[in-house]
Amino acid sequence: MAVRERFESPGVAASENGRQRRREALVAERPAVPTVAAVICPILPDQRPGLAVRDPGARLEEAVGLAEAIALDVRLRDSFVLRRPVPATLLGAGAVARLKSAIEELGVAVVIIDARLTPVQQRNLERAWNCKVIDRTGLILEIFGERARTHEGTLQVELAALDYQRSRLVRSWTHLERQRGGFGFLGGPGESQLEMDRRLIGERILKIKQELEQVRRTRTLHRAGRKRGALPTVAFVGYTNAGKSTLFNRIAGTDVFAKDLLFATLDPTMRAIRLPSGQRAILSDTVGFIADLPTTLVAAFRATLEEVQEADLIVHVRDVSHPDADQQKADVEAVLLQLGLEDRMAGGEVIEALNKIDLLDPETRAPVEAVAATGAERRRAYVISARTGEGVDALLAAIGERLSAAGRPLEVDIPLSDGATIAWLYRHAEVRDRRDADSMAHFTVALDAEGRARLAARLGREL
Ligand code: GTP
Repeated sequence: MAVRERFESPGVAASENGRQRRREALVAERPAVPTVAAVICPILPDQRPGLAVRDPGARLEEAVGLAEAIALDVRLRDSFVLRRPVPATLLGAGAVARLKSAIEELGVAVVIIDARLTPVQQRNLERAWNCKVIDRTGLILEIFGERARTHEGTLQVELAALDYQRSRLVRSWTHLERQRGGFGFLGGPGESQLEMDRRLIGERILKIKQELEQVRRTRTLHRAGRKRGALPTVAFVGYTNAGKSTLFNRIAGTDVFAKDLLFATLDPTMRAIRLPSGQRAILSDTVGFIADLPTTLVAAFRATLEEVQEADLIVHVRDVSHPDADQQKADVEAVLLQLGLEDRMAGGEVIEALNKIDLLDPETRAPVEAVAATGAERRRAYVISARTGEGVDALLAAIGERLSAAGRPLEVDIPLSDGATIAWLYRHAEVRDRRDADSMAHFTVALDAEGRARLAARLGREL
């Protein structure tokens, strides 16, 4: 019973209070005896070892980690190659039957399939196994729903969940239509119910988008306030569980929720810190990234990731002890590209913190250190352990250097009549070039992030 409720999609017409109550109820309701779950990782033909970039064992581990993130008791875990995906059930009849007996024997109440299931496949598997079945997207949404702590985070998750729900309704509706001959004008109770659900979902989505717009406007104002406060910002990004929160805590001396729970951080957390150089900066911890994050979720989390877009420096925290470390890096970079950060990535505004070095044995550690110590990597990659603190001071020094370094030269036009700002510029920036034309002075200057923010505030515009 509890299981069924926990995995039901959020109510279409739930009010803000209703949602809050529902979440509180879910937490309170969490059974004293955890729900028994199974995690099944079918390796699809294009993911088979040899062709696969992702290690099947690590993939299964990650899926189990995701399930445990919402306190499921995973008693059955299995990963196998799926030679030919079956349209009705994804898994072949043999696998369905084999798993059925294990599911019954262990009393499994929820099966997580670490793949994308169509609504029909989901329903068929539920019938075959007589228990709840969810796919990877459903699970990620569930985790996000539990972890979101701010109003904005909650709205974003609900938006993504509704979007997911709507796409499934559309698909299952199309499916029904096809079964009935594809005309769809015969009507019928099932169809009109779906139509109504779609309409209600559509309305709710619209309302959430409006609310989000309002929340974002407020955030933009806050950010503008911070810019005026003239502190440069550093954003931590990284694959989920890479150690962002642990590093954040070590540096900021706070107790951000750092646990071995995937997606412990969903809402950006910010703290002002002082770097070894004495310079102050704002550190912002952001949501962890994950492979196969549904695009709707990336879109829904855009606002949270705005902090990343606006940051003066991005620190990509990586778990170098993970077997899929390279693939995780590629996944994170793909999201950064989606955020339009291509230029900044190419321009060296992203530095890497190669974390969890303490977990490597000397043989594996040496090559990582060697790469970080040579060529262009020397200024880009820093070997650290957020847990032991090793290398963190060097990373902080590098962050300080980056923030105060000249960085990109800044081109700015200042009216010749604004003598005060021109004088300010000579006092605070390194002026590399000046050309006067028509009542304007065209400057090329080197200015640190803090100076940039102060100049922007003086001119009343973005730079
Ligand atoms: P999300 O919130 O999912 O994005 O995770 P995160 O990147 O913030 O990771 P978090 O800091 O919560 O760390 C995940 C796990 O890795 C925790 O169990 C940490 O204790 C552990 N961890 C973090 N840094 C290190 C490290 O340098 N060495 C070791 N051995 N473990 C670490």
